[in-house]
Amino acid sequence: ITQLKYHCRTQQMTLNVSSTCSCYFSTSSQRNSQFYSDATDAVKDIPDGATVLVGGFGLCGIPENLINSLLKTGVKGLTAVSNNAGVDNFGLGLLLQTKQIKRMISSYVGENAEFERQYLAGELEVELTPQGTLAERVRAGGAGIPAFFTPTGYGTLIQEGGCPIKYNKDGSIAIASEKREVRVRSSLLWLCHKAQVSTNFLWTGVTADIFSDLKTARNFNQPMCKAAKTTIVEVEEVVDVGTFAEEDIHIPSIYIHRVVQGTSYEKRIEVQNKAFQILRCLLFPQISFWFQKRTVQKSQEEKPKPKKESDIVRERIIRRAALEFEDGMYANLGIGIPMLASNFIKPDITVHLQSENGILGLGPYPTEDAVDADLINAGKETVTVLPGAAYFSSDESFAMIRGGHINLTMLGAMQVSKYGDLANWMIPGKMVKGMGGAMDLVASAGTKVVVTMEHSAKGGKHKILDKCILPVTGKQCVDRIITEKAVFDVDKTKGLILIELWEGLTPEDIKACTGTDFEVSNKMGQISL
Ligand SMILES: *[C@@H]1O[C@H](CO)[C@@H](O)[C@H](O)[C@H]1NC(C)=O
Ligand SMILES: *[C@@H]1O[C@H](CO)[C@@H](O)[C@H](O)[C@H]1NC(C)=O
Repeated sequence: ITQLKYHCRTQQMTLNVSSTCSCYFSTSSQRNSQFYSDATDAVKDIPDGATVLVGGFGLCGIPENLINSLLKTGVKGLTAVSNNAGVDNFGLGLLLQTKQIKRMISSYVGENAEFERQYLAGELEVELTPQGTLAERVRAGGAGIPAFFTPTGYGTLIQEGGCPIKYNKDGSIAIASEKREVRVRSSLLWLCHKAQVSTNFLWTGVTADIFSDLKTARNFNQPMCKAAKTTIVEVEEVVDVGTFAEEDIHIPSIYIHRVVQGTSYEKRIEVQNKAFQILRCLLFPQISFWFQKRTVQKSQEEKPKPKKESDIVRERIIRRAALEFEDGMYANLGIGIPMLASNFIKPDITVHLQSENGILGLGPYPTEDAVDADLINAGKETVTVLPGAAYFSSDESFAMIRGGHINLTMLGAMQVSKYGDLANWMIPGKMVKGMGGAMDLVASAGTKVVVTMEHSAKGGKHKILDKCILPVTGKQCVDRIITEKAVFDVDKTKGLILIELWEGLTPEDIKACTGTDFEVSNKMGQISL
């Protein structure tokens, strides 16, 4: 048996074998997986109009070779279920360019210019789904659960319906999302995702039992392997039985139907493009380009730049936000100010940071030599982990979040209402990037939700209001608001209570720059950092 396997592996590496190497699995045992030496053979029977689950988070753990093969087969009218949509010229972005995708079902579609153009021009259908709900729909599909309820998205456009899925050429809405049934503790009904095909990228396969050593590349790949009629897995390495222990197998062979060994990976090329990547980070640190963000620690000699007023405001918020951390806490931090607050965690306490793409025990940015494309945070920045950290898949990550196991979530906002409604995912008429994991994070009972934001928007427009004007991310979900001027606690029935003021300011000053009324706590504190 071993010889047969070895024979096939040799063939694949040394000769041009276009036929399938079915001996690999069929004779070795009663496995139902087939090995394909040519990735295009593995996908050539995917019919037009198929629904395809595509693994990956950002560009981490995407099936690069299988996507390239779909370009070759030219299959059309695909519905792609994938957390993200790639970038303009990489990942699923390639299939968008060739117009092979009819509908994307995603949680965050980022800054893909071609994607935006097609969506606004009415050429592409986009069904935005909260990240944890997307992961659970896929998990449920594989587990034989036809539908389920989740509180995520209650009171938002996702529940009420009317979210644009497809535009007409004149900008009016051609297809809008449907209203969702609500039952049991304000929860929304969702049907599971069960697809014809699932394409995934995973590290190592042994006769199609899969061992993934890929850190955060596990993400959606793990549940997606189980939710399709035909699961096609691309592996980076094929090894013999016994190479790793049975208890290390993440996906048993029963879920895998076709295996392809990838021949080239862009993530290697990315390392060659280091100079470009670093230059981009230096020139545009604030712009979130949608490809793997190489984030490294700045060397000690670098001089800090002179501070602008906006930097001073942000630093105030960051330092005050850091006081929210308590010893032993599990926290999920949004991109930007919340993540930066982790730099100011007091050295004598331990805070366990969760990243929703599949890490518990997030560490600092890596030094140049420790950069790993398979280890990123939810903001797609390269990171490290601390001793005792754990990696897991996206469905597991959101079970952790939805289940209320995280003590604190801190995130930014565009608007917050006096009763704690939060708006931070959409500006109608402009590009909708998607809600990512935010709706799941704020819907979790038992998790304290802290908003960090500048007190007013550009031009002095109020951000703290009687009622949010923008579409909300969650209803009555915010527990505390931290700005550069004040800290409010939110009483979900009575409204805001001012609990701290920046030194030198009075409650009257705050009244003048806040779009709603508030109580003043009789135990008012002062922020001076
Ligand atoms: C191997 O494949 C390449 C490219 O597909 C082709 O040009 C070449 O002729 C093939 N070689 C053999 C021995 O079939
Ligand atoms: C975090 O939450 C758990 C319950 O999920 C609780 O037992 C623990 O005390 C909390 N820790 C902190 C520091 O708030």
